[in-house]
Amino acid sequence: MSAHRLRLRFVPDGTEVRVPSGTAVFDAASWNGIAIDSTCGGYGTCKKCKVRVLSGEVAVSDVDPRAFSAAELADGWRLACRATAGADLVIEVPPLQTRPKAALAGVGRHVILRPSVQKRHLVLPEPTLEDQRSDLQRVLDAIDDLEPEPSLELLRTLGATLRSSGFDVTAVVVGEELLDVEPGDTTARRFTIAFDLGTTTVVATLLDLDSGQPLAVSSMLNRQQPFGADVITRISATMLDPGALELLRLRASETLAELTGEVCDEAGVDPAEVYEVTVCGNVTMMQLALGIDPEPLSMAPFVVSTHRLPPARASDFGVEVHPRAPAFVFPSIGAYVGGDIVAGILATGLTRDRRVRLFIDVGTNSEIALGSSERVLACAAPAGPAFEAAQIRCGVRAADGAIEAVRIAGEELSLQVIGDAEPIGICGSGLVDAVAELVGCGLLDHSGRFIPDDVAAAAHPGLCERLTMIGKERVFVLHWRGEDPAESVFLSQRDVRELQFAKASIATGWQILLRELGLEPGDIAQVLLAGSFGSFLTPASAVRIGLVPKLALPRIVTAGNVAGEGAKIAALSARERAEAAAILREVEYVELSGRADFNDLFIDQLSFPG
Ligand code: FES
Repeated sequence: MSAHRLRLRFVPDGTEVRVPSGTAVFDAASWNGIAIDSTCGGYGTCKKCKVRVLSGEVAVSDVDPRAFSAAELADGWRLACRATAGADLVIEVPPLQTRPKAALAGVGRHVILRPSVQKRHLVLPEPTLEDQRSDLQRVLDAIDDLEPEPSLELLRTLGATLRSSGFDVTAVVVGEELLDVEPGDTTARRFTIAFDLGTTTVVATLLDLDSGQPLAVSSMLNRQQPFGADVITRISATMLDPGALELLRLRASETLAELTGEVCDEAGVDPAEVYEVTVCGNVTMMQLALGIDPEPLSMAPFVVSTHRLPPARASDFGVEVHPRAPAFVFPSIGAYVGGDIVAGILATGLTRDRRVRLFIDVGTNSEIALGSSERVLACAAPAGPAFEAAQIRCGVRAADGAIEAVRIAGEELSLQVIGDAEPIGICGSGLVDAVAELVGCGLLDHSGRFIPDDVAAAAHPGLCERLTMIGKERVFVLHWRGEDPAESVFLSQRDVRELQFAKASIATGWQILLRELGLEPGDIAQVLLAGSFGSFLTPASAVRIGLVPKLALPRIVTAGNVAGEGAKIAALSARERAEAAAILREVEYVELSGRADFNDLFIDQLSFPG
């Protein structure tokens, strides 16, 4: 079922957008880079987001009568953050009183800076016998465009802070919470950290919320690695040992805490000035980091504990920043289409773009999303271990010494090695390249078999000696170390088979999504390859092995760490988080394992395209 889309046109800008019924006008504008005045960030308290509905009907909200006269309401004036679109609309946006800053983030996205962390410098009148307002009311009265709630912890120190600072303070509001009241004017300093909690690598980006700019980035291997390289082995660890879940939780906390220290040190930021964090990761990583039993994720019917976690704090992740800093966590669509993919969809703007785009996060579990602002479908394709170094005979992680690219021109084979070092093995992108080049030059046939020695000798006299045997298995030597092929870096027949299974699984996934949408490969305007494997693939090789549809190469884009970009976008704009929630509602999940057509399509996809 396709969700009903509405057409919203903003004047005088002229931009037209398509959004689902029920979307707030403020959000529709914000997601498309059209700024509307606001100081509350869309919480309905500042009454600055005034727009006029020129065509179409928008009901009067409960807040509108406090912002407009009856005549203005009759004339179509509404608060954009309270105006929900229920029909096609033409909206007039008045000139801005203050121009909000914007930052480029994600895949070429223009993100309007609307952090949920706000600071206000207040010089308050001191209490007198005539003015006996409470300490809290005195602060709240001075920020009446916001209506935050305090915590008990804040009240414990509020009186002392006001008096020790001579009632010259800065209120820190995060979302709907009065997080802190600090002595003096600290408005210039407010920071956040966006975490991408990956199974293999964890990345932290410290952002300045005044400028929207990243100040420091740090990454390290997830300390859960000793429990297994992928999510399934880590879940198994919790099933075998009752103490493992707590250990895995602690390892995640240590990883995030160490990165926090690094980015704060590098940028000269006191961790207490980090008032919020955002975290994205796959469902297993999030559940392990929060100590939630992951066992149901590993067996049919693959159920998540919740699509949307209850409000969490940075301290729940073991992150020591401001003690009450909230943690924004991305929602997940399904057990294997998690918050990292929601973050990726947010960063690419897939659900808001009119063009049909295909997003593939290539990995052991590959996630695929296809669609446009009309409709988006997603699925998870179990690609098997081909991209994991451990399952490839000479597989290594993408680090110094890994062959990351392979080229065959005539009888010449050239390798690109990370760190310009002596090759020690082959990583995921090198594997795809090697197979693509061998198919291209004919040493591998289209069924994925190495051609017979005599045929190879005739066709490629300069390369045929690399085609040899180790035991009973045929291999192609990429880099000789001595004369023994077993000591060298090679590609085996079994490695090729592993890759065939992986790419067939992914290709079957996008073929099924195309079928569901009634589209052809030629309708796809852009393919985005993401994730730690996808980002390093050569588009030409991805096409040659049939991992992606056969399209003109400029249409195939390696998009980098889009999940991390999504986490940054959510850190910079509270409104973009509403978009993440909308993605959860709008993206339709397609379960591949239940499909009658899966096997036939899969077998068709095993061979390499001609
Ligand atoms: S009232 Fe503040 S943005 Fe609408």
